[in-house]
Amino acid sequence: MKLYKTKIQGTGKYHPEKVLTNEELSKTVDTSDEWITQRTGIKERRISDLSKDEHPSGMAARAAKEAMKNAGWEPNDVDCILFATTIPDMMLPNTASMLQAALGITNNCACLDVNAACTGWLYGLQMANSLIQTGVYKKVLLVGTEMASGFNNWEDRSTCVLFGDGSGVTALEAQEGDSESFILDSILGSDSSKRMALAMPNGAAMSPITHEILDNKEQYITMDGQVVFKNAVKTMASHCSTLLRRNGLTNDDIDWFIPHQANLRIIETVGKLLDFPAERVITNVQKYANTSSATIPTAMHEAVMDGRIKRGQKVMLAAFGAGLTSGAAILQF
Ligand code: UT7
Repeated sequence: MKLYKTKIQGTGKYHPEKVLTNEELSKTVDTSDEWITQRTGIKERRISDLSKDEHPSGMAARAAKEAMKNAGWEPNDVDCILFATTIPDMMLPNTASMLQAALGITNNCACLDVNAACTGWLYGLQMANSLIQTGVYKKVLLVGTEMASGFNNWEDRSTCVLFGDGSGVTALEAQEGDSESFILDSILGSDSSKRMALAMPNGAAMSPITHEILDNKEQYITMDGQVVFKNAVKTMASHCSTLLRRNGLTNDDIDWFIPHQANLRIIETVGKLLDFPAERVITNVQKYANTSSATIPTAMHEAVMDGRIKRGQKVMLAAFGAGLTSGAAILQF
C-alpha cells in the first residue's frame, strides 16, 4: 500500500471579541487577580456572544476560513471534517456537519465530532494522520473548538476562572514522496479510573435535566483540581519521554514544545520534569485561559504567524483532559 505523509498546510484561529479580565471576574465571584495569576498564570479569557454567532460552529467557521486561505484550499477541496469539541452546537446534528454548512461545502464530505475533552485535537490529529497516510482522504480539516462559558457555573470560583472560549483549525494535506513536513509519531491514552475527577454528570442520558438539578445548579462542570493537576503532569511528561525515546530524539532535536494550555504551573512542572528549556515552550494561557481542545491549534497558529515555528522544525505537543484522556505527538512542521 502506498503511504502518504501528513502536512499541516494551513492554520487559523478565532477567539470571541469580549475579554473578561481577572479584575472583572473578581467583582462577581469571590476570587482575585492575585490568586488566579499565582495559581494558574491566567490574566484574562474570551467569552462568546451568541448574538454574534460565536457558538462552536460559528467560531470554527471563522478559524477554518483562515486556515483554508493559508492552505490555498477552496471549500469543496475538503474530504473530511474532524471536529474536536466537548461542547457541541446541539446534541444532534454533529457540529462537524454544522461547520460543513457554515463553510458552504457542498461535496457531502465526511463529518465527525471527536470528544476527548482537552485532548480532543490530539486525538483528531492521530485519526487524521492515519486516514491521510493510508490514502483514504487527501485533505482533512481538523478543528478544536470550545464554548465553556455557557456551561461554567459562574458562582463556582474553583472552576469558572479557569476556562475560556475559542477555536483553532488546522488544514492537513496528504504529501507524496519526500516531504519535510509530516507527523512523526503520536501516543494517546485514557485512565478511566479517574473519569469523575473532571465531569459534567448531568444533562445527558444517565441523568436528564430536572427542575431539581437546575435549582441546585448541578448542570455544570465539576472538578477535583488536584487529581487532574497531578495526572496532567504525570501523563504529559511520560508520553513526551516515551515519544522522544522511541524515536531516538532528545530535547535538543525539538525546536518547540506546545503543551495543553490549562495552567502555567502545570506547563512549568512538565517542562522541569522533561528538563525542556522554558524559552522553547509556547504558551498563550495568560490571554485565553483554558480553551480545552482549542489550546494547541490556537497556540500553534500564533507561533506560525509570528515566525517562531518555521517549516521543517520539530514540534512536540502534549495534552490531557476529562476521561482522564492524555496524549502527545511529535511532528515536523
Ligand atoms: O484541561 C483540564 C482542566 N482542568 C485543569 O487543568 C485543572 C488542574 N488543576 C489546577 O489547575 C489546580 O488544581 C487549580 C488551579 C484548579 C487549583 O489550584 P490549587 O493550587 O490546586 O488550589 P486548591 O484547589 O488546593 O485550593 C487552594 C485554596 C482553597 O482554599 P482553602 O481550602 O485552602 O481555604 C480554595 O478554596 O484556594 C481556594 N480557591 C480559590 N481562591 C480564590 C479555589 N479557587 C479559588 C479562586 N479564587 N478562584
